[in-house]
Amino acid sequence: MSTSSIESVLTETRSFPPPPTFSAHARVKSLAEYEQLDRRADEDPEGFWAEVASELHWSKKWDRVLDWKLPDAKWFLGGRLNVSVNCVDRHAASTRRNKAAIIFEGEPGDSRVITYGQLQREVCKAANALAALGVKAGDFVAIYMPMVPEAAVAMLACTRLGAPHTIIFGGFSAEALADRIKDAKAKVVITADGGWRRGQIVPLKDNVDRAVEGSTVEKVVVLKRCSNEVKWTSRDVWWHDVVDKASGKHEAQAFDSEHPLFSLYTSGTTGKPKGIVHTTGGYLVGATYTTKLVFDLRDEDVFWCTADIGWVTGHSYVVYGPLANGATVMMYEGAPNQPGPDRFWEIIEKWGVTVFYTAPTAIRAFMKWGDQWPAKHDLSSLRLLGSVGEPINPEAWMWYRKQIGGDRCPIVDTWWQTETGGIMISPLPGATPTKPGSATRPLPGIAADVVHKDGTPCKPNEGGFLVIKKPWPSMLRTIFGDHDRFAKTYFGEVQGCYFAGDGARKDQDGYFWIMGRVDDVINVAGHRLSTMEVESALVSHPKVAEAAVVGRPDELKGQAIVAFVTPRSGMKADDALAKELREHVATQIGALARPEEIRFADALPKTRSGKIMRRLLREVASGSTARGDTTTLEDQGVLETLAQSFAQDE
Ligand code: PRX
Repeated sequence: MSTSSIESVLTETRSFPPPPTFSAHARVKSLAEYEQLDRRADEDPEGFWAEVASELHWSKKWDRVLDWKLPDAKWFLGGRLNVSVNCVDRHAASTRRNKAAIIFEGEPGDSRVITYGQLQREVCKAANALAALGVKAGDFVAIYMPMVPEAAVAMLACTRLGAPHTIIFGGFSAEALADRIKDAKAKVVITADGGWRRGQIVPLKDNVDRAVEGSTVEKVVVLKRCSNEVKWTSRDVWWHDVVDKASGKHEAQAFDSEHPLFSLYTSGTTGKPKGIVHTTGGYLVGATYTTKLVFDLRDEDVFWCTADIGWVTGHSYVVYGPLANGATVMMYEGAPNQPGPDRFWEIIEKWGVTVFYTAPTAIRAFMKWGDQWPAKHDLSSLRLLGSVGEPINPEAWMWYRKQIGGDRCPIVDTWWQTETGGIMISPLPGATPTKPGSATRPLPGIAADVVHKDGTPCKPNEGGFLVIKKPWPSMLRTIFGDHDRFAKTYFGEVQGCYFAGDGARKDQDGYFWIMGRVDDVINVAGHRLSTMEVESALVSHPKVAEAAVVGRPDELKGQAIVAFVTPRSGMKADDALAKELREHVATQIGALARPEEIRFADALPKTRSGKIMRRLLREVASGSTARGDTTTLEDQGVLETLAQSFAQDE
């Protein structure tokens, strides 16, 4: 074993108890309290969730807590509520009226503070404007916006009208945007002229122009953010023309608890992203409960989740969870190293951020940029740190704790997914001793386990499938337009359980260690991509005959994309083609899917039945010799040629 892996094992077995000063004021103060809650939830799940749900404002209380017929769950049946009333109006009508709801920092240095009272007026105006454009309950609205307060306003305005939103991350290309708009049959798109990223303008409106051609979209609402030149058609309206001029009063209607709230596209194991559908009551209960418990939220907090609203983390922990709790949310538009590598630390110091939640890829980048950057700033306002999106390696965990948390802030490593709607496995910062690299234990109410394929539990430290054995309120309800795929993907793998797609082990203390995806999904810098999606993009290029995509471990991004490509006959496999193909993928999906490396091969390793053996390619791409079973490989020579071509280059 190498010295670094010995160190890593030693770190893994270290345990950090919650700081006593933190526990003393925490919502859950000890492991015994956590266990009591957990038992209560286990013995009477419906009673437990009903108690949690009653903290929200319901226009009509539910008649039944749960209706569960695998794989279909309905929560808080007969209950009616409005999400924007819960996130905004009830705070605007309280002592929080003049409290900051959103503190915004733009990349170029502009900033704004929006109180709950102001946010209510903005959301009402936007709701009135959308209603005037014809948006009704049940109509889908696509949002493709930069990280500016109007993005949150747009989301809340949709929920106010009962119009489900589907947000597409601003880094997705026009083609990817078009696919999602088409699948959701969106009626209206809300976008901006552009957004700032590393000093450049991301041409959002241009992408929308290309994406809406021939679609169901009737209107495009455009926020002026960068004042870049944009093309204009009769379909387009400026945000400032329709929203700013609308009335600041709007009577919100309550919607059924199971009314769809949003769909969000995420990658699965096929080439086609799936629209994960969440519903009103259950989702909001989950987002509100987990934010309060995991981040131990209190009124004085300035809560900063660095995720973009285009990802589920941005939905649950930039907008719905913290606002439902009446928190102050920090929102930043741009890149972490613009203008310098200390931009985040400057923001924390400037606004007195108290809770900071980011991704391991970002933490590893901060480590690489150097300790001097956080050291330049006073980070003493921080009291809690969080991590999400991918496994955090113990080294990055330790760095985060020391350099950012000053050895005093607990770290919550939170495991969850687009499908789960909210955090599922995480320490409670005042109660759970943490071990670097482990998401520790499930939240009270979440019946997570590690099992074999037949559903029998694994022994301590034995690797298996990570499953959830009981329904929970914020679980996905379906895949938009494909309920069969939903049933098969999530409930068809392990008998009677929701299967998440991740492998894990539970140690002797019942702590979960997430081992990563066991399907053909790769996690690049905390972003989920399917190998098939990238392969489809590659084979859509006229010079490509065949392609296979795998993830290989990457120090910074967790995983990097390596594509093995067989060019069509007569095509020259050279650097120019590699460059062309990398750009082609970026145009088809977005820069986040651009392969790190393109490897040309005359043939790809296949089984006798013609299936590409990705496992072998993964081993070749990771630089190790293919050690696994190769007996089903049709042509042994293919593998040797591939391995040799790698060896020559290194
Ligand atoms: O593999 C797991 C990984 O991210 C996947 C979910 O991706 P997505 O739906 O895009 O949601 C990301 C933000 C919640 C999971 O299947 N993942 C997420 N959090 C962790 C994680 N892996 C290890 N540790 C985590 N804390």
